[in-house]
Amino acid sequence: MFDSVDDVIDRLASVGYLADRQLATSVFVQSRLEKPILLEGPAGVGKTELAKALSKASGRRLVRLQCYEGQDETKALYEWDYGKQMLYTQLLREKIGQIIEDSTDLASAITRISEQDSAFFSERFLAERPLLAAVRADEPVVLLIDEVDRSDEALEAVLLEVLAEQQVTIPELGTFAAKQAPCVVLTSNNTRDLSAALKRRCLHLFLDYPSAERELDIIRRKQTGLDDVLAEHLVSVVRGLRSLGLRKPPSISETIDWARTLAVLGTESLAHQQLADTISVVVKYDRDLERALEALPGFTASAESDSDRPATAVYQSDPDDEGHGKAVREQRNRLGRHGPGHYGARAEDVSPQPRIPEVSASQGDRSFTSKLGRRTR
Ligand SMILES: Nc1ncnc2c1ncn2[C@@H]1O[C@H](COP(=O)(O)OP(=O)(O)OP(=O)(O)O)[C@@H](O)[C@H]1O
Ligand SMILES: [Mg+2]
Repeated sequence: MFDSVDDVIDRLASVGYLADRQLATSVFVQSRLEKPILLEGPAGVGKTELAKALSKASGRRLVRLQCYEGQDETKALYEWDYGKQMLYTQLLREKIGQIIEDSTDLASAITRISEQDSAFFSERFLAERPLLAAVRADEPVVLLIDEVDRSDEALEAVLLEVLAEQQVTIPELGTFAAKQAPCVVLTSNNTRDLSAALKRRCLHLFLDYPSAERELDIIRRKQTGLDDVLAEHLVSVVRGLRSLGLRKPPSISETIDWARTLAVLGTESLAHQQLADTISVVVKYDRDLERALEALPGFTASAESDSDRPATAVYQSDPDDEGHGKAVREQRNRLGRHGPGHYGARAEDVSPQPRIPEVSASQGDRSFTSKLGRRTR
């Protein structure tokens, strides 16, 4: 797929995706080792977009499996086309009648019919879903397994065969091995920890918010219509907002939206008022809004000089880390990092459980007996 790491960077850039060296190296290694790549990271940092860009840059078809809770293998792998089977049964009623014509009892009629199983459980009646489609494709494809953390653990187990062996087994038909190894990209928003078995089969990469320089490049590429100087200023404000530890920090896509909004409004300078009026484009929770508005004057004042501000100051990075963010990733990768209130947490995990008041034995007695309409003592 690619000749070198630089080739990855150039070809992804040619389709509008700006990858840093670390990401490009993972993609290059993946293409050589034919291993799936697992991208974890906050929302809107370009995980899904990478698979789309890989598909465009390599000219390979994109096959996408969008994961969700309760999804089972009939939506991910394959299922039997029941409607088609019924239709054929109706149309062939006469023929089926002939097959069982001379059976003397029910048991022998069933045996006769079951001998025809292979006709009804054949490829003709197979409805392939994304995983099987990727494995059976004649040409190499890019397989995107998006938001795998939303799927149940059972589906994760189904994925293992595809990821490790690049094959799918259908009991009635046998095993289909990929003719051409698909380029597999999995994405996760960290709403739950993925199994070690899944992680072991993938090259793992934590995709974080980009450097100021790369984010500015992305905005320029998107032709938002915002003046270059203002875009630079905006990027530094967004980075400031990310350092506040908001429940939902602004993503790259939201920075792009903010730049477009300001351009549409014909903004000529990013004074506090202009930013405050449009900040809801990037800040989506009430509590976050309050904190952001409070901190905004500080960002607008220091915007010109803060391109060195760490993208995620909530996780203090190690000064000896040579700017690779290793410490940041390690902190994020520690077990049990998803405390209540993290972005993507289920509502019941976030809101405190209602306290059940303690009831004395006599109170319980009273309420029980009052329902019965008589007193015990
Ligand atoms: N490196 C990049 N180069 C160019 N555009 C980018 C890059 N990263 C992000 N974007 C822009 O950000 C948008 C959002 O990216 P994407 O949908 O891939 O995010 P995501 O990480 O999959 O988010 P989510 O977890 O919410 O699905 C893209 O449509 C694209 O415009
Ligand atoms: Mg996505």
